[in-house]
Amino acid sequence: MVCRSKSQLLKSVVFLGVATLILYELVLWRRLSQVSIPTTSAFPWTNNGQPNPATEAEAEVGGPDAHPLHPILDLINEGHEKFARLQAAHSNTIEQAAGRYRERRGRHPPPGFDDWFKAALKKDAVIVEDFFDRIYHDINPFWALDQLELRRRAHSQPEVIRIRNGKVSLVSEDPDRGNQWMQIWAKLVKEIGHLPDLDMAINVMDETRVLVPWEKIDEYVRKERRTRDIFPASEAVSNYTRYADVDFQPEPYDPHWIGGEAHKYWDHVRATCPPDSESRNISSLPSLNSPVKDIHPTEPIDAYTYKGFIRNFTASQDACVQPHLRGLHGTFVESVSMSTTHELLPIFSGSKLPQNNEILIPGAVYLNNDKRYSGGKGIGGAWEGKMEGIMWRGVASGGRNKVDNWWHFQRHRWVQMMNGTTLQEIIAADEAAAPTFTLLPPSVYNVRARRNGFMGSWLATHADVGVVDLMCCPGEVDSRGKRVHTCSYSSPFLNVVKEKPMKEQYAYKYLPDIDGNSFSGRWRGFLRSTSCPLKATVYTEWHDDRLVPWVHFVPFDNTFMDIYAIMEFFLEGHDAQGKRIAEEGSRWASRVLRRDDMLLYTWRLLLEYARVVDPQRDRLAFVGDLVQETI
Ligand SMILES: *[C@@H]1O[C@H](CO)[C@@H](O)[C@H](O)[C@H]1NC(C)=O
Ligand SMILES: *[C@@H]1O[C@H](CO)[C@@H](O)[C@H](O)[C@H]1NC(C)=O
Ligand SMILES: *[C@@H]1O[C@H](CO)[C@@H](O)[C@H](O)[C@H]1NC(C)=O
Ligand SMILES: *[C@@H]1O[C@H](CO)[C@@H](O)[C@H](O)[C@H]1NC(C)=O
Repeated sequence: MVCRSKSQLLKSVVFLGVATLILYELVLWRRLSQVSIPTTSAFPWTNNGQPNPATEAEAEVGGPDAHPLHPILDLINEGHEKFARLQAAHSNTIEQAAGRYRERRGRHPPPGFDDWFKAALKKDAVIVEDFFDRIYHDINPFWALDQLELRRRAHSQPEVIRIRNGKVSLVSEDPDRGNQWMQIWAKLVKEIGHLPDLDMAINVMDETRVLVPWEKIDEYVRKERRTRDIFPASEAVSNYTRYADVDFQPEPYDPHWIGGEAHKYWDHVRATCPPDSESRNISSLPSLNSPVKDIHPTEPIDAYTYKGFIRNFTASQDACVQPHLRGLHGTFVESVSMSTTHELLPIFSGSKLPQNNEILIPGAVYLNNDKRYSGGKGIGGAWEGKMEGIMWRGVASGGRNKVDNWWHFQRHRWVQMMNGTTLQEIIAADEAAAPTFTLLPPSVYNVRARRNGFMGSWLATHADVGVVDLMCCPGEVDSRGKRVHTCSYSSPFLNVVKEKPMKEQYAYKYLPDIDGNSFSGRWRGFLRSTSCPLKATVYTEWHDDRLVPWVHFVPFDNTFMDIYAIMEFFLEGHDAQGKRIAEEGSRWASRVLRRDDMLLYTWRLLLEYARVVDPQRDRLAFVGDLVQETI
């Protein structure tokens, strides 16, 4: 069950990695929450006497207890400015939408863009061109390869959603394997209707797949730029080429999958990093049986932080600027399975690392309303009735955690960092109590509880965090041969706690989300909820361009080094800011993360995909808006 082998690569793995629950702690929690925490604290940040732009916003949204100089207030302001700009760019007419498309993409939109736009209007979608940037990031490199070669590569994959003459069918090697996910996606594609012929190869594994080295992708992307052309409308072709109309009898294509090197995945990833990036020349760790403190950063990463907090969330997901992640995230330490290629293969997937070349579609888990992920119909009660703290439940997934590497996994680290007892112990100098992380000196974030030596009780009061299954590898059994959720090597440090369904998690103000074997399927549920969601991740998803950090959610670092300072900010004097993020996130999710929005995203993506693999791609275009103008 735990150390899966090939037959178990399925997406269903995600289902095991689920969030969930506790009751007895509620009681304890309520009692502990009444312990009063003084709300004044001295922050290290000053503006050298300069007026601080945060002060105004503070007066608007904060209370008298607020700290006017806190950098998170600057970041919230900056986020709201960005969000206002995004919303102002909504397109109301096809002329606007097509015009913005040409301006941003350097091409005409693909044929079918008008039907897509009409459907988007009808579904009352927020239509902002930037929301679709991800599509172009994913599709552009394919313009460098021959169209029929691309059709061949997709066609010869084992798991494919096929469209011919408007009919959608499934091709699968093994009817049990991945089909559950394939069917969810195929259903979505069927609902779209109106799509040209295409073969959509699907990644049915949790793990990410395609890693084309940087030099190659750079060449492809340059080539794509040279093919951009806004040619005269009279030259446009409006019909996609049917597969039956070209001589398409493809030879099988072998992407040369590389497997069995899960502990060396990092070396394949770093080859996709720019030559001047920090990670490019840093090899995977020769042994994971080494202390985390040898690689753990000792201060915030300049590349994406502002006074210690995340300013550029995209860069914070990027392992190319964070060589330490090779030993601090399961996907680089040892994933459950590995099958990767260095060749550019068009394959669709629900999530990936920024370095991967898969084509992103909305995660299947977001499309099927499984209560374990979506949280069901309810989205939680009023903010004021929620408990003052953070709640997290999950299994200790992330990869194959073993006796000689487990402390390198993100969920193990997360749970230890949120454990008041552990903090108490390591501050009392027994560093071995926390094999999973390095506690930074108090001077770095200057958190009061840390400075004044009450981290243990502070965390016990404000964090209810635990794993429900330690996912030992190899799995362990009890005297009757039944698999247990405990684990001989990690149980001394981590307690297995009771599950807690998402709707009960919504009883807490703050809901952090931590990566598992791949992206966390709870994220959309957390965003929709009336609680304030927090996120640290190395995975990109379809919706990234429509969510604004510090407006719709609170970003935090993949090392989690900033989490105590973030907790202090929101829990001590900035409740209004937490409430506002909870409300904005929930409202926005109900506007732009609906099933309709996922359908519209996929629709537009598939038009682009059908065009890039079409023999006539250089002239396939929607020009209806221009033709009308000239009449
Ligand atoms: C394009 O497709 C439409 C509708 O299917 C059809 O009526 C038309 O004849 C086609 N045009 C060309 C040039 O094949
Ligand atoms: C990495 O190594 C290559 C080849 O040895 C070298 O050209 C490049 O400058 C190095 N990059 C960094 C960031 O050190
Ligand atoms: C954020 O980081 C990304 C990726 O590293 C970069 O492309 C982008 O320009 C950065 N954004 C800003 C506003 O600096
Ligand atoms: C917290 O840490 C203590 C001591 O390190 C450990 O015994 C306990 O099981 C941990 N609790 C959780 C919920 O992991």
